[in-house]
Amino acid sequence: MEGKQVLLTGGAGGLGLGVTPAVVRQGAKVTIPYRNEASIERLKQQLSPSEFESIRFVSVDLSKESAIAQLVEDMGRVDVLIHLVGGFSMGQLIDYSYEDWKKDFQLNLDTTFLVCKHSLRSMINSGYGRIVTVGSKGAVQPMGGLASYCASKAGVVALTQAIAEEVKDYDNITANCVLPSIIDTPTNREAMGSDQADQWIKPESLAAGICYLASEAAKDVRGATLPVYGQL
Ligand SMILES: NC(=O)c1ccc[n+]([C@@H]2O[C@H](COP(=O)([O-])OP(=O)(O)OC[C@H]3O[C@@H](n4cnc5c(N)ncnc54)[C@H](OP(=O)(O)O)[C@@H]3O)[C@@H](O)[C@H]2O)c1
Repeated sequence: MEGKQVLLTGGAGGLGLGVTPAVVRQGAKVTIPYRNEASIERLKQQLSPSEFESIRFVSVDLSKESAIAQLVEDMGRVDVLIHLVGGFSMGQLIDYSYEDWKKDFQLNLDTTFLVCKHSLRSMINSGYGRIVTVGSKGAVQPMGGLASYCASKAGVVALTQAIAEEVKDYDNITANCVLPSIIDTPTNREAMGSDQADQWIKPESLAAGICYLASEAAKDVRGATLPVYGQL
């Protein structure tokens, strides 16, 4: 990714703690849209001062299409989109509110649609692009108590594969998706304790798969769903 313009959403989140350093260390020009200043401070601890200085942080709410359009325009060009934004909440379907269902779809699927749409326009203009989205093991092996999460992540997988089909005629534009199981993030440790954490996927391990799919070398890998389950 040397010299590539990379739009790295969610780059200051839990998974971003592993993915952002890996992408920066490849010599990419990284832009991270953020909402929460505190998560940037946490990310700073994972980077050298010069690595941190090399990142452009922009305050953008990725649920707003006009803000995304502006972000992409300001970047001038998006060579690589790595879309980490997403999240989950639990609840039995009969108790789940329609409001929460819509929130999950907005966070997981709508942001993916919007960020892919505007990044892809730029990629088609330049003739080069790599899109890497994040699904979940639950997208292909759905679990009870997580219906809206699994359904919205299944949507992310289908959307990514549809994009891969749509750009098949472009020589050097690809779209692929990674499917993590449980990731070893500070939030998961806080929520579930650390007893099982050695079995969870390290952000650095996912970063290796993401960086491969985002690389020039992965030109012929299209519409893939890469399971990164570890021993889970
Ligand atoms: N953690 C897991 O075990 C696990 C398992 C399978 C799949 N995944 C997937 O992996 C990805 C990363 O997960 P994670 O654990 O790193 O989540 P996370 O720690 O919650 O990070 C998500 C990031 O997205 C940002 N974000 C959310 N909504 C946004 C918006 N509207 N505009 C701009 N930024 C926004 C958050 O920023 P703020 O902090 O400012 O809100 C945060 O930095 C997600 O897609 C998740 O579904 C995670």
